[in-house]
Amino acid sequence: MKKSLWALLMIVAAFTLVLAGCGSKEDTSSDGSTSGSTSDSSEGKKVYKVGTEATFAPFESVDDKGNIVGIDVDVLQAIADEMDFEVEWKNIGWEPVFQSIKNSETDIGASGITINDERKQTYDFTDPYYESQLLIVVKEDSNIKSLAELKDKKISVQINATGHMAAKKLQGDASTNIMAFDTQPMAIQEMLNSNVDATIGDNAVVYEYMKANPKAKIKVIKDDNFEKEYYGFMVRKGNDELLSLLNEGLQKIKDNGKLKEITGTDFK
Ligand code: ARG
Repeated sequence: MKKSLWALLMIVAAFTLVLAGCGSKEDTSSDGSTSGSTSDSSEGKKVYKVGTEATFAPFESVDDKGNIVGIDVDVLQAIADEMDFEVEWKNIGWEPVFQSIKNSETDIGASGITINDERKQTYDFTDPYYESQLLIVVKEDSNIKSLAELKDKKISVQINATGHMAAKKLQGDASTNIMAFDTQPMAIQEMLNSNVDATIGDNAVVYEYMKANPKAKIKVIKDDNFEKEYYGFMVRKGNDELLSLLNEGLQKIKDNGKLKEITGTDFK
């Protein structure tokens, strides 16, 4: 009895060691520094982990085969091809896109992320690759015509996205009329369900939603009180090596026309 208990304990101990060994694999980059989650591919190329929230077509969505596809995927791949590195995409959710950069679980945030001063305090951003603007979306029969008219209305947004920031700016941070959701499609759905009067989201994504849901009885309201926004790729603050790599590649695909080919808009 005693012997078999020992044997069992040994097996458990050995198993635990094996597991611990798997879990603690140090992410060490080739220069020996432990800078984030970078690893090397079989061909010796650097592999950067990319965090995204893939319900944001046309920038990132999951296709019917389970692949993450979209403009961000194509742009970053074009940069990777130019600069000879690889990327590994992770569909982790919107807020984790930020958190995982902070705690080095990912290297790059690529998620239609608007560059703004608030975020620049905590993260570094590449040069911009896409211009965007917020839009108001309401039911087809709504009387709302402007952002100002949303002052006392119920608004749905994606949490901590720029639409959320715009809603707070209009109604105040503590407003109980702002409903924040994990994804932009969820925010739109809330408006379709008549739980809110309007939703605010990124123009290209709203238009893509309307294309994909032609029967949805909704209309958009443009308002120039929304500032122009610029998307960039996000890295950990101070990760200058990766930032220059991305910026150099981005400049190349701006110069050779590849960026325009992917996004459909010229952007220098
Ligand atoms: N551009 C907006 C922002 O940066 C929304 C981005 C949301 N992206 C996403 N993949 N869900 O706040």
